[in-house]
Amino acid sequence: MKEFEGRIAVVTGAASGIGLGLAEAFAAVGMKVVLSDVREEALAKAVESLRTEGAEAAGILADVRDPASVQALADGTVERFGGVHVVCNNAGVASSNSLLWEAPLEEWDWHLGTMIMGTVHGIRSFVPILLDQGVPGHVVNTASMGGLITGSSSEAVYMTAKHGVVALSEGLQDQLSAVSEQVKCSVLCPAFVTSNVFDNYEDLRPEAVKSHQETEAGRQMVAGMKQFLGMGMPAREAGEIVLQAIRDERFYILTHPEWASMVEGRVQGILDGSEPLRPPPPIGGLG
Ligand SMILES: NC(=O)c1ccc[n+]([C@@H]2O[C@H](COP(=O)([O-])OP(=O)(O)OC[C@H]3O[C@@H](n4cnc5c(N)ncnc54)[C@H](O)[C@@H]3O)[C@@H](O)[C@H]2O)c1
Repeated sequence: MKEFEGRIAVVTGAASGIGLGLAEAFAAVGMKVVLSDVREEALAKAVESLRTEGAEAAGILADVRDPASVQALADGTVERFGGVHVVCNNAGVASSNSLLWEAPLEEWDWHLGTMIMGTVHGIRSFVPILLDQGVPGHVVNTASMGGLITGSSSEAVYMTAKHGVVALSEGLQDQLSAVSEQVKCSVLCPAFVTSNVFDNYEDLRPEAVKSHQETEAGRQMVAGMKQFLGMGMPAREAGEIVLQAIRDERFYILTHPEWASMVEGRVQGILDGSEPLRPPPPIGGLG
């Protein structure tokens, strides 16, 4: 996609962090933006902040875990703006510090439901619209550096979901390339970008999912991660990187390309038949 002015973007998980940064970057090049999130009050504030900057922005409440809710987001977008050109399946939740054999099924359901099935619902509801329009369009799925490298033990559930989002995106790009020259896909793999993901974890987690605050290990992990995120890339800058990648039709989007060599550790383990190599800190504790 080369033209953005007047085109329509939809971003899930847009009430804060990377999603809001994406919406701001799109609005700055004259796109009309639909911000979507499951947190109503925060969503209203985000929409208002964009409108104050002069953007044409709308807010649609949606829970990406629910296919009907995502379909209503797609229908509402087309009803409001007449089409859609950029779709960012970005909503996500923080890692949880659970042992795989102890994580309650509600935790698996929450992580995989939000990040894998949320992306699936976005693909099912929006890709047919993008293809039918017959004009350039782009899907951006937010995974993580954690979806490209070997997991750190504190984040195994989260990283399982993010590896899934990378695989989904690779499959989508492959399938799209067989049926369209106009519609492309990218996968966003952020490292440390400033966001509210750990505070939102506490607000959004289902009852059965442990609070990070319940154990000393959890408290320590969150304190460390918040420190790294606080020193991370501003979310708006991540939004600009994504905008440029859409323009360049780049598939893998790394906010921190200097960390790409960590992928080699995993690949080397596969080639050698050895155990997976863990990345060094701070990425071995990625959000
Ligand atoms: N911040 C980073 O450094 C980083 C690193 C790797 C990956 N990511 C990924 O980036 C994406 C954005 O995260 P962030 O760090 O900006 O966090 P964030 O918490 O600031 O933003 C995520 C948004 O998603 C929303 N959300 C959560 N569950 C939802 C649901 N079921 N339906 C709709 N909205 C929902 C939250 O309300 C929140 O506003 C996530 O997918 C996350 O995994 C972030």
